[in-house]
Amino acid sequence: MSQLILATRNKGKLKEIQALLSGLPYEIHSVLDYPNIPEVVEDGETLEVNALKKAREVFLASNIPTIADDSGLEVYSLNMMPGVISARYAGENVTYAENNQKLLKELENVPAKKRQARFRCVIALVTSTEEILFEGFCKGKIIEELRGSNGFGYDPLFIPDGFTATFAELSLEIKNIISHRALAMNQLKSYLSDLK
Ligand code: IMP
Repeated sequence: MSQLILATRNKGKLKEIQALLSGLPYEIHSVLDYPNIPEVVEDGETLEVNALKKAREVFLASNIPTIADDSGLEVYSLNMMPGVISARYAGENVTYAENNQKLLKELENVPAKKRQARFRCVIALVTSTEEILFEGFCKGKIIEELRGSNGFGYDPLFIPDGFTATFAELSLEIKNIISHRALAMNQLKSYLSDLK
């Protein structure tokens, strides 16, 4: 069985991705299994740069085909911010609640029809012969108050198109069908299954 490394130290993500790629003949490891691989600094200016940087560095250190992802929220009327800085929109080491308050403040007085946004996920696959990017989007809008307690990050403020509930009100089962991450993962999955 071939091996793949997932360049994340986040156990939740590892579980999610292992489940998603479960039907394929790959053994999926995380960088946690390789303590000598240094932590990668996510200082790129785009999601693409960060995903590629993480995948390249882990591949160079391990010589095992590597998958890395980066994602963020892009709000059209804020010039696609917070985007690549979604995790630290309100500053370094802030909570999800602080990022959500900052977003609400930035969108104060912005009318409903100008609150469109999308989540975007980029996945990089780096092997000895190729570097490939996969992308997934989930479009929707930012509401004016927090609703729901599932999920994480900006979920309580985001209603995906075609729904009336926020990501934080929807079940994880539904989110995992329509989310940016799921759509990007599905592309990776079909690419990997075509290889076999
Ligand atoms: P990551 O690259 O998946 O770690 O995501 C970076 C940041 O983007 C997170 O800290 C969240 O603020 C935001 N984000 C990414 N995906 C989601 C999501 O599915 N729901 C809510 N926020 C998200």
